[in-house]
Amino acid sequence: MNHSYSYQSTLVASDAIHWRIEDIIGGEKRLDFARPFMPDSLARVEQLSFLTPDEKRILNQIRGNAYLCIFGLVEEFILPFVMDHARKQLQGDDYRVRALLQFASEEAKHIQLFKRFRQEFEDGFGTDCPVIGPPEAIASAILAHDPLGVALTTLHIEWMVQRHYVESIKDDQELDPQFKSLLKHHWLEEVQHAKLDTLMVESLAAGRSEAEIMKSVEEYIEIGGFIDAGLAQQVEFDMDSFIRATGRQLTDAEKEEFRTIQLQANRWTYLGTGMTHDRVLETLQYLTPKARQRIESISPAFC
Ligand SMILES: [Fe+2]
Ligand SMILES: [Fe+2]
Repeated sequence: MNHSYSYQSTLVASDAIHWRIEDIIGGEKRLDFARPFMPDSLARVEQLSFLTPDEKRILNQIRGNAYLCIFGLVEEFILPFVMDHARKQLQGDDYRVRALLQFASEEAKHIQLFKRFRQEFEDGFGTDCPVIGPPEAIASAILAHDPLGVALTTLHIEWMVQRHYVESIKDDQELDPQFKSLLKHHWLEEVQHAKLDTLMVESLAAGRSEAEIMKSVEEYIEIGGFIDAGLAQQVEFDMDSFIRATGRQLTDAEKEEFRTIQLQANRWTYLGTGMTHDRVLETLQYLTPKARQRIESISPAFC
């Protein structure tokens, strides 16, 4: 495939970037609940015109909490997946072993960071905000799929993180600086993961026929469908959390509008931004042009 990614260069970049959880959360570093956490291109709370500015900010923060918790969830399947992949390739390339173990170690750190964030969010927000789960059940459902289908899902997730930060978060001056700092530090390490995912996809696809590759692409789509069902549940949780946090009663028509706009906002955040990412599409194209066409035929539903 046409790229310059290597295990050695991602390892060098990762060593240079490395940060500690204690450096980015805790002590003086607190969330500011007077500010939004998420860019509106992902939260889409502004479209809910029946909400006041304060109510929009509260819903935005509920979405921010769900965002980091959902990343915590998906990283619970990425961690064992990368470890299993590394376990099979312990011989032959020292840089590969070290880069993949560093990848797994960073995901373990991110899982812990997001748990730490959730504790702080719960302490400061004052209303319990449920998030889909449990993580172990979601991880085992995803890991039951073909490894190449799982690797494509991981590739999708990590390029998606790149896109969220670069296109929507980096230049948004309204966002809470502490929440933005968590996203920035996560993004800095995810850059290497997205490159390693590309190398993992290439390695898992090697020697497969086009029909076998297309079967894995269908599994990637099935995993997307599983995530999509989770997102519909998350919208119900978020609406319930919003009502409890604000005391606002919504009419049936307002609830319907909330569901429609927020489900599409979640689909765009977790599915559309990955399925339409240039790097994801290039990797699919490299596997077979049919793979790219298949994803392009369904991605508009998630945008
Ligand atoms: Fe991560
Ligand atoms: Fe990652």
